[in-house]
This record gives sequence, C-alpha cells and structure tokens, in this order.
Amino acid sequence: MEISIRPVRSNADYAAWREVRLAVLPDERAPTIEELQIQAGPHHQYVLAELNGAVAGSGFVGKSNLTGQAAVAPRVLPACRRQGVGSEILRVLAQDATAMGFLIAGANAVDAGSARFAERHGFREVDREVEQVRAIGDEPEPQAPPGVTILPVSARPELWLAAYGVVGAQAFQDMATVAVLDVTADEWQRDWITDPNAMFVAVADGEVIGCAGLMPDPDEPRRAEHALTAVRRDWRRRGVAAALKRTSLAWAAANGFSEVYTWTQRGNDDMRALNTHLGFRTRSESIRMQATLPLAT
Ligand SMILES: CC(C)(COP(=O)(O)OP(=O)(O)OC[C@H]1O[C@@H](n2cnc3c(N)ncnc32)[C@H](O)[C@@H]1OP(=O)(O)O)[C@@H](O)C(=O)NCCC(=O)NCCS
Repeated sequence: MEISIRPVRSNADYAAWREVRLAVLPDERAPTIEELQIQAGPHHQYVLAELNGAVAGSGFVGKSNLTGQAAVAPRVLPACRRQGVGSEILRVLAQDATAMGFLIAGANAVDAGSARFAERHGFREVDREVEQVRAIGDEPEPQAPPGVTILPVSARPELWLAAYGVVGAQAFQDMATVAVLDVTADEWQRDWITDPNAMFVAVADGEVIGCAGLMPDPDEPRRAEHALTAVRRDWRRRGVAAALKRTSLAWAAANGFSEVYTWTQRGNDDMRALNTHLGFRTRSESIRMQATLPLAT
C-alpha cells in the first residue's frame, strides 16, 4: 500500500482536487478551478493524495477566517478510507500549518466517524455548524422597509467594498464563532462574492446598511449557497435582513434555481430563527474541531 501526498500544480490536479471535494461534500458548492488558483499562495495550499498511484484524497491548509488559526481539510474518497490516507494527508497539512507559523488548527468534520478520526489526532470539538436548506418556489419580490433601497452589487459595484467597512466588520465581531473572524478587504472582495448579479446590498440615506446574496453552484446550475447576511447594528430588527433574503430567493426563482442552502453557527439563534421563518429546514450539522500545533502524530 503506497500513499503519496503532493502539491496541486496543473489544471488537471485542480480538477482532481475538485472531484474529491465533490465526492466527499456532494451537497456543497465547490470553488471553480479559477477560484482555487486565485486563492492559492504561500498561506493557502492544496494537496492531492494518491494510493498506489490513483487519486484517493485531497487536502487544504491555509489561513482560517478565525483569527490566529490555520484551516486544515483532509478529505478521502469513501472507497479509499480506513487505509491510512487521511492520517497521512493530515500529517502533511499540520506540518505545513506549523511551518506557516500557526499555533492552532481548525477543521470541520462532516460526520461522527470523521470526528473520531480528528479526535484520534488530537482535535477536540469546539462548536457545531448547522446547514439549512430552502426549496425555491414562487417567490414574490419583497417590499423593502421604508427608506431602504435594495439593489444588486452589479448595479453599483463599488458598494461591495463599502459593505465591508461597517456592515461586514460589525457582523464579523458579532457572529457566534469560537474566535473573532479576521477577513481582510482583499479576501472580502475575492472570496465573499462570486456573482454580482446574485449579491444584494441595502442602502439607506446613501449608506450601505446590509448585504445578503447567493453564490451559484458551477456544477449544479439549479443550486446556490446563501452567502453572509449582515445588517448594520443600528438597522437590526427592522426587517432589512428578511427583505434582503427574500430578494435573494426571488432572484433564485427568476433564474431557474430550485434549492438554496446556508451554513450558520449553532449559537447564531437570530439567523437560524430568521431562516426558519423564511421556510428553511435543517438538513445536517458539521462538527467544528480544533487542535494545538504541532500535532503529536
Ligand atoms: C476523516 C477522513 C479524512 C479519514 O480518512 P481515512 O483515510 O479513512 O482515515 P485513516 O485511515 O487515516 O484513519 C485513521 C484512524 O482514524 C480513526 N477513524 C477514521 N475514520 C473513522 C470512522 N469513520 N469512524 C471511527 N474512527 C475512524 C480510526 O481510529 C482510524 O484507524 P483504524 O482504521 O486503524 O481504526 C475521511 O473519513 C473523510 O474524508 N471524511 C469526510 C471529510 C471530513 O470530515 N474531513 C475532516 C476530518 S478532520
């Protein structure tokens, strides 16, 4: 049994990396090859694992959005599990994370077995994330609250960066995550929007007071991930988030989508309550795990 781990380099490698991701996480949007290439760099690395010369798994290691942490993501094709591939990927990813200077690694285990694997390597559960799904039907165009205009980012592209300054910054501080989120303006513009027609901002008195929208799935044209919904603190509890989300759902209906899904931290009661109110139902939970670096294994 020969296991080898190597960095992703060619377009064919990126395609193979995506294939593993799609096989392991079939319900989720995988980034396109172009998105992966744009994100790759010294603090954002992708690897492929081979078992006897055939692709068996993949890995990612890089700066997490959680302040001070590395994100590690070992993934193994279901048919290749329990042969040591995942352990070998994680060993390489953890070494890379340590070399990048991180003292903590975080990972998401998609099921209890994967959490057992992570525990065996020194990780402990610190949180859960909840996936909520909404079937798209007839979605009426919503009414924005008085004084508020909702428009797609494609109509005023400069408003996406404006949304980062206050709306995004406040949301990152207020979200119920295990550590404060650390998202730079570059990351906001690169990773948090994929289609400016599907992303919406709410404007009042000439200022951005909220944002919400969708990231369409390049492999499943009828499916999209609902991206961050955020409202400036002084505008909360006035129907802005509901109007923004309903705008996203109406856009999904008008563009032939049948499903929208979203991930929320377990402790984010307000967002889950809003989603439930809008007809989302819970589909799955992911277990947030954390370990101190360097790993013992
Ligand atoms: C987690 C994952 C990467 C493990 O890959 P793998 O190649 O099967 O892992 P290994 O063969 O190296 O497992 C090493 C040990 O971890 C434990 N383990 C692995 N999978 C397990 C499972 N499903 N249930 C219980 N223990 C498990 C076992 O102790 C195993 O040793 P053993 O097979 O001798 O009993 C794989 O199941 C996966 O891709 N899961 C989905 C993605 C995910 O959640 N990744 C994040 C993990 S932090």
